[in-house]
Amino acid sequence: MSARKLLLLPGDGIGPEAMAEVRKLIDLMNIEQNAGFVTEEALVGGCAYDAYGVPFSDDDMARAQSADAVLFGAVGGPKWDEVAYEVRPEAGLLRLRKELDLFANLRPAICYPALAASSSLKQDVIEGLDILILRELTGGVYFGEPKQIIDLGNGQQRAIDTQLYDTYEIERIASVAFELARTRRNKVTSMEKRNVMKSGVLWNQVVTRIHKERYADVTLEHMLADAGGMQLVRWPKQFDVIVTDNLFGDMLSDVAAMLTGSLGMLPSASLGAPDARTGKRKALYEPVHGSAPDIAGKNIANPIAMIASFAMCLRYSFEMVREADLVEKAIADVLADGVRTRDILSEGFREVSTAEMGDLIVAKYRELIS
Ligand code: NAD
Ligand code: IPM
Ligand code: MN
Repeated sequence: MSARKLLLLPGDGIGPEAMAEVRKLIDLMNIEQNAGFVTEEALVGGCAYDAYGVPFSDDDMARAQSADAVLFGAVGGPKWDEVAYEVRPEAGLLRLRKELDLFANLRPAICYPALAASSSLKQDVIEGLDILILRELTGGVYFGEPKQIIDLGNGQQRAIDTQLYDTYEIERIASVAFELARTRRNKVTSMEKRNVMKSGVLWNQVVTRIHKERYADVTLEHMLADAGGMQLVRWPKQFDVIVTDNLFGDMLSDVAAMLTGSLGMLPSASLGAPDARTGKRKALYEPVHGSAPDIAGKNIANPIAMIASFAMCLRYSFEMVREADLVEKAIADVLADGVRTRDILSEGFREVSTAEMGDLIVAKYRELIS
């Protein structure tokens, strides 16, 4: 079997702590299942800025281009609050997304049965929840030009961000949404703000056309994004796939994360288009949470979002569907055994550290494969 090339980018804050737990799983799969993962590691974010003066170097970009998949921890932190905007830690992540053309960001929000009672929402609202937020990731206000602060000369400044979408960008993310819905409960909810934004008008038109032309078998509904945020906390189980733009997707997926109990639970996959010749997609897998500076270095962060992101990597980059299912089952079983990291801890459960949670999930996975 040919090698499976993984580039690991642990990053800053709790990124390295979470990545260490995934590494345990990779090692186990190599030893016990002859999985053939070959890993390289590189710096991204604040630590890359400290070492090279940029948040992601050209050499490492070339490594990312040639890897089969990239695993990303988290970037950022107060240490880099004052660095120039262009070289902020977050710019390293944005460069990866843009240059690898990872336009489709899959953010599933699943409520594990064992956590149904520990959400801030009522149990019946989130019990059995399984929705997918599909966030457009390489366009919109994140990347639109001009993006600048200009001096107006009268003591005033003007800040400009540009929300910009071309037809093809909406077409390709809509197609992914419908394709994914067909493998799930066959429903897509498209969210924009066509009542105040031209990009929302075009978004709505293009999604409607793609649906009519190629996916009429899927149920499509449209919702204004602000109302969508409200509906997400009112009755999230009405949704299957939510497709939305870069900025709305960023915010709505943080909301969805809390439905599942903690930001520390939510994984994501960022995928490019399949290569015309090989059919392979560029891909990066990362938890939805950030570097959590408030808890970094304390061995209390929840590694589940990072481990579940690796499960998505097994599924989408390596067609290791059985292994992906078993990693997810190992997570569910460990939670059902009553262990919790601090962010999801409630009365009657046993608190464990980041490393202990990782060890328990790896041990459970080993049991499941033997
Ligand atoms: P954050 O996600 O880092 O933290 C928000 C809150 O959630 C904190 O209280 C944190 O302790 C908690 N939390 C997050 N992940 C957790 C985990 N795995 N286990 C337990 N608790 C967890 O968001 P923030 O505080 O707004 O941002 C901090 C830094 O991270 C900023 O520099 C931001 O730009 C960056 N950030 C990076 C990414 C990324 O790298 N993908 C994503 C979001 C934010
Ligand atoms: C996320 C993060 C990033 C974003 C930041 C760190 C650039 O919040 O992945 O959700 O805004 O996309
Ligand atoms: Mn975010």
